[in-house]
Amino acid sequence: MVEIVQDGHKALRKIADEVAEKEFGSVKLLKNLEDMREALESQDDGVALAAPQIAITKRIFVVSPKILKDGSAPKDLPLVYINPVITKISKDKKKMDEGCLSVRPLYGVVKRSSRVTVEAKDENGDEFSVSAAGLLAQIFQHEIDHLDGVLFIDKATNITELKLNNEKK
Ligand code: NI
Repeated sequence: MVEIVQDGHKALRKIADEVAEKEFGSVKLLKNLEDMREALESQDDGVALAAPQIAITKRIFVVSPKILKDGSAPKDLPLVYINPVITKISKDKKKMDEGCLSVRPLYGVVKRSSRVTVEAKDENGDEFSVSAAGLLAQIFQHEIDHLDGVLFIDKATNITELKLNNEKK
């Protein structure tokens, strides 16, 4: 079983490294992705996971197929994001409830842009772009924060240990 590291682990506070061109399609990268999916799927309330959350300091996050049930996600949404970059971000922000698989059992309220566009590569190195709103836009911002060593508790207000029935990233 792949362990999800918790706040206090140094991997969560590093600026993660870009995946190098030669790593695309490699057995090692595929194993990293498999471990990330396994860790995410082990959590009933998880909707996405960044590589540093399993102590791999690379710029990768994965999204759970669960998110496809949310109206904010396109049906053909890619689930693997390598070297992701936000290329457009709305000035319009919304307060959103947020938690994190690496900051249990805390929740808080974070102001997130309502819409973002992310460019990334898949495991073969092919580039794609996704525009998102709502929950998916929030997930993209939360996961890319992880790749820069930022946790939601750095930005959140109303932090509480109250157990809400919310998705975590
Ligand atoms: Ni998180």
